[in-house]
Amino acid sequence: MCGIVGYSGKKNAAPVLLEGLRRLEYRGYDSAGIAINTKKGIRSVKVKGKVAGLEEKLLEKPVVGSCGIAHTRWATHGKPSVRNAHPFRYNSFAIVHNGIIENWKTLKDDLIKAGYNFTSDTDTEVALICFCALFEKTQSIGKAILQLVKMLKGAYAFLIIDEQNPSTIIGVKNGNPLVVGKNADDIIAASDLTALLSFTNRAFFLEDRQFFVAGDGNIDFYNFEGGKISNTPVDVKWNQEEAKKGGYKHYLLKEIMEQPAALTRALAGRVDNLLFDELKNRITPKGRIICIACGTSYNAALCFKYFINMLSGVSVTVEFASEFRYQPHDLSADSLVIALSQSGETSDTKEALLRAKNSGAHTIAIVNSWESSIARAADETIYMNIGQEISVASTKAYTAEVALLYLVALRIASERGAAAEKIDAWKQKIKEVPKIQSNYLENSGSVEDIAKKYYKKKNFFYIGRGIGYPVAIEGALKLKELSYMHAECYASGEMKHGPISLIDSEFPTIAVAPPGGLRDKLFSNVSEIKSRMGQVILVSDSMLAGCDFIKMPKIDAWLSPFVYILPLQLFSYYAANLLGNDVDQPRNLAKSVTVE
Ligand code: G6P
Repeated sequence: MCGIVGYSGKKNAAPVLLEGLRRLEYRGYDSAGIAINTKKGIRSVKVKGKVAGLEEKLLEKPVVGSCGIAHTRWATHGKPSVRNAHPFRYNSFAIVHNGIIENWKTLKDDLIKAGYNFTSDTDTEVALICFCALFEKTQSIGKAILQLVKMLKGAYAFLIIDEQNPSTIIGVKNGNPLVVGKNADDIIAASDLTALLSFTNRAFFLEDRQFFVAGDGNIDFYNFEGGKISNTPVDVKWNQEEAKKGGYKHYLLKEIMEQPAALTRALAGRVDNLLFDELKNRITPKGRIICIACGTSYNAALCFKYFINMLSGVSVTVEFASEFRYQPHDLSADSLVIALSQSGETSDTKEALLRAKNSGAHTIAIVNSWESSIARAADETIYMNIGQEISVASTKAYTAEVALLYLVALRIASERGAAAEKIDAWKQKIKEVPKIQSNYLENSGSVEDIAKKYYKKKNFFYIGRGIGYPVAIEGALKLKELSYMHAECYASGEMKHGPISLIDSEFPTIAVAPPGGLRDKLFSNVSEIKSRMGQVILVSDSMLAGCDFIKMPKIDAWLSPFVYILPLQLFSYYAANLLGNDVDQPRNLAKSVTVE
């Protein structure tokens, strides 16, 4: 999703801004642009497509100046094109924007009536021209901002530069992330920390309804009431090495392969004490337990639902955050709401969490991105500690989320009086997971062969039962995201109630079959598919005649979200790679979905 970067300092701004954009590329985007305050006023360059194209244009015709803003756009209002790419210019100002202005149409109609002209289809240009109209009246940047934010509805983070104040950047935040960092010579602002790390590890995070005015080595912070406020910088723990590919062809493959190490970090110091450093008080609520999340994080929560139910009979509801935020609720102080998010910035998850919090429920966030909006909004936060996840499709965050949720489940079971021996046995099993994953990943070659056989198919079913079912759901999501194949998942008992009518020799099924009582039932469902000429790829420790076989180690079925997911991630990766897709930035997708 859109990325914004701003720079003011002693360096030439263009290379700094391009490097910032490169670091934000992982968020997913379709066009890019830059605007720099030069000696002859603001000059901008924009391209449809990638940052590399923008760089080429800047090499042909350099734009020199030491203050500027830049943007990667993920189209929301108006198709991807140079015309709709940011930054936008009006009078002496230029703007970049991440977010959505919901009342853009009304504002635009009013501005057109007042005689203003537009050059794009975007909501961003409406915000800029609105700001310029207010500036014409007030002749004060601060007053114009304060009036602007009263008029705008929606979520936004803006960066603005001005020809009349050539070293100034203004940043405005309401609902979308914005962070600014400073060292002796440079001020750099961006929509995420990644773009700051080559300059500084000290960052000032803005809260919603705040803005800053920066330049000449100073940053002043204000709230939307116009008051000057203080902001204490935070020391950031990530380093840039974590953001590199480490010898792998793609970030995705690196992130799949580093899951044992990531899980070791996520679990470190947390298994024996069942998360007591983070969750100091009893967490078992008298009332409901609800998980809210989107995408892969939602699928991780489904595993928790199955696990805690098996462990202690507790029922957990898992809701899509985008639905939960608009549904009626019976939440109270007796409810526990767990929000899961790799990025910590997913708009729907954040709003759903705030809704739960406002209703009095106790909220816990499981988040990877440090100091992100969701991490800051929850009552208590458990960080995944797995380093940055760059590839758009989530992999290592999934296994970390499931692991931390399993610890939450053990904590609840323990608080509800489960026998210590039972809890200890599970702790031991969880501690062994990284080793099991490493052993599997060292011997996972057959998955690539199976991908070579199947990558030209157009449709796939994924099936599972019990804990194998949520694992299969995540497998199907990975295939869709990466290979653009149609992949649908069913609890295998449902196949005969409709989906099986689609089966023929061109519609293969991936059956996720960990051991346990339900496996024989799943094998019966597999036979029904094979009887209708369907090809089946069986992911299991036990072979079934007539299936392609992905051999899994003998493990407890409840560990399959950590182990059986690996070949499903790899299968999607290899298929996408064979198809020549952009593996790390699949089309139409974004890593951090900061719009509704
Ligand atoms: C986007 C990403 C997915 C991710 C989902 C939820 O759609 O492309 O990979 O699972 O958002 O993201 P979150 O950061 O909240 O876990």
